[in-house]
Amino acid sequence: MMTIPVHVPVLLQEVLEALVLPPAARILDLTLGLGGHAEALLARCDKASRYLGVDRDPEARYQARRRLGDDARLEILASAYEDLWEDPRFLAWKAEHAPGGFDAILADLGVSTLQLRTPDRGFSFRDEGPLDMRMDTTSGPTAVEWIAAQTDESLADAIYQYGEERASRPIARAILRAHREGRLATTRDLAEAVYTVIPREPAKRKGQSDPATRTFQAIRIAVNGELARLAASLEAAAGSLRPGGRLAVISFHSLEDRIVKQTLRRLAGIYDGPGRAAPAALPKTLKLIHPGGLAPSEAEAAANPPSRSARLRVAERLP
Ligand SMILES: C[S@@+](CC[C@H](N)C(=O)[O-])C[C@H]1O[C@@H](n2cnc3c(N)ncnc32)[C@H](O)[C@@H]1O
Repeated sequence: MMTIPVHVPVLLQEVLEALVLPPAARILDLTLGLGGHAEALLARCDKASRYLGVDRDPEARYQARRRLGDDARLEILASAYEDLWEDPRFLAWKAEHAPGGFDAILADLGVSTLQLRTPDRGFSFRDEGPLDMRMDTTSGPTAVEWIAAQTDESLADAIYQYGEERASRPIARAILRAHREGRLATTRDLAEAVYTVIPREPAKRKGQSDPATRTFQAIRIAVNGELARLAASLEAAAGSLRPGGRLAVISFHSLEDRIVKQTLRRLAGIYDGPGRAAPAALPKTLKLIHPGGLAPSEAEAAANPPSRSARLRVAERLP
């Protein structure tokens, strides 16, 4: 019998405390993944509750369904959350089950352990696999196709912007050189191109993270358009809450967290832009619950090291 892969849900206790679930709760999970948060939330819901789980990754949806079984409260929708808000399937589900809005919306951003640990998906420099990195394996260019369409400059910009990598220019040149010479088919090839600029061994000796980490993150974000419509999606999510309903967002790196923080603050009527502005002029739709965000406890970070960089932000829809 095949085992069901496990993704240890991060900040689970904090999410359960943040999302206050009434009887007949209506929950929207924008990143169902392997259903770890969903399983725990559903365990706290009564029979009349309804849970809509969205994921763009076919394998994640399959595994989540296996994990959660034929729970009649759960519906799984194949979509990127950016495309959800005007999707007739979503609008029909919402009109039928949550016409007054959702009680809770969860977005646990980024990649799942399943994606990272499956070499064939091409997300990880630790295992050799095809250079793919698409979350939705049914559409869009793979990482190698995306790289092939870049110039030295556009690739360096992406690595700098999405990876916050200072050596973005020589790394971009090394990657495109490897591609021109027919040496860029696998994750190992991409990592090797980075190591020609930042050697791996010295970083390892100093206990620093692998030099390929930032470049892999950047290319993954670019291939999946991860940050492009995040702010608009959070705004749409906030608009889909019922008054008093809560939105919980978990991010995994500073770029993501910055967008989450700025968007929630703006929707809470807090002005962060340059110069002076009258905060009263900003429409206020949300109230921030943990203004500084929540990080994993030391115990969680020790038990599940990938959770270390996670941050949870929670906001409540105002009446
Ligand atoms: C960190 S995992 C979620 C894990 C889940 N909370 C659990 O406990 O199992 C993130 C999931 O979001 C999905 N995902 C990432 N970006 C997405 C997007 N724009 N639209 C829909 N799903 C997305 C990924 O495919 C992945 O399965």
